[in-house]
Amino acid sequence: MDTVDSAAWEISKALAGKAVLVTGAGSGIGAAVAVQAACAGASVALVGRRVEALEETAALVRLAGGERARVAVLPWDVRADGGADALVGAAIDRLGRIDGLVNNAGVARFAPLESAASEDLDAMLDTHVRGPVALIRACLPALREHRGSVVNVSSVGGALAMPGRSLYGASKAALNSLTRSLARELAPDVRVNAVLPGPVETPMYDDLGLDGPATTALRAGLLAGTPMGRFGTPDEVAHWVCALLDAERSAWVTGVLLPVDGGRTA
Ligand SMILES: NC(=O)c1ccc[n+]([C@@H]2O[C@H](COP(=O)([O-])OP(=O)(O)OC[C@H]3O[C@@H](n4cnc5c(N)ncnc54)[C@H](OP(=O)(O)O)[C@@H]3O)[C@@H](O)[C@H]2O)c1
Repeated sequence: MDTVDSAAWEISKALAGKAVLVTGAGSGIGAAVAVQAACAGASVALVGRRVEALEETAALVRLAGGERARVAVLPWDVRADGGADALVGAAIDRLGRIDGLVNNAGVARFAPLESAASEDLDAMLDTHVRGPVALIRACLPALREHRGSVVNVSSVGGALAMPGRSLYGASKAALNSLTRSLARELAPDVRVNAVLPGPVETPMYDDLGLDGPATTALRAGLLAGTPMGRFGTPDEVAHWVCALLDAERSAWVTGVLLPVDGGRTA
């Protein structure tokens, strides 16, 4: 991962003394969130399936957060049946508390309906809906105790028509709906928000289930539909995730679906 340039984003120690659990923290947007949260003073729990990728992020977190940075590497599959309570318990054992949960783990399998595999639908619904539900539930006592918040990393695909990518879009639309409903259900104790990235340069584009030419055509179409004329960077999304985690600046913000998309949904 070479896209994280967190020094440029250090805003304050707005998350000092807080602890944040980030899923999908081994690459892309999740890694950038972990590093920026550490820059802002937070301890971080890094969750994902590949332990080596999490260790790479942990090394960057230690660099960003300085000597006092506390980081817990907790390999876990968000699709696992059960285990969310144990995972959250392990994070609290290591970090002492949880103030923020970032449901960022994601998988993109793009195909027209007629050729879409039902296993891919299962993977996207598990990763984007079931996993976040289990983790929010497991984190809830800690989040209530500290007046914490949840940030879901959704997608503009959950808000736009997505021909050829309808199942991905549907899974993210479900996450958007969950965000808004839980924001009302859990207020005023716990805030629940989502960021909706447009196209962001991450390893996600290496494994979409498409062949090379189809991936190239997809990327060209995304670029053409993005008024700012380029893909975003993981840091540009992580900045807003960390802003929504900030209990002071975002104290009155809940239920928001925030596009961070280079104008794609404008
Ligand atoms: N890049 C974009 O253009 C874009 C646009 C809109 C939304 N998003 C969303 O942004 C989020 C982050 O994606 P990214 O772009 O940063 O791509 P990425 O680098 O591929 O990150 C996805 C991360 O999710 C983890 N993950 C996947 N399945 C998991 C599972 N079952 N359990 C635990 N971790 C899992 C992966 O790690 P392991 O494989 O090690 O588990 C990986 O680190 C996703 O929710 C994605 O849908 C991305």
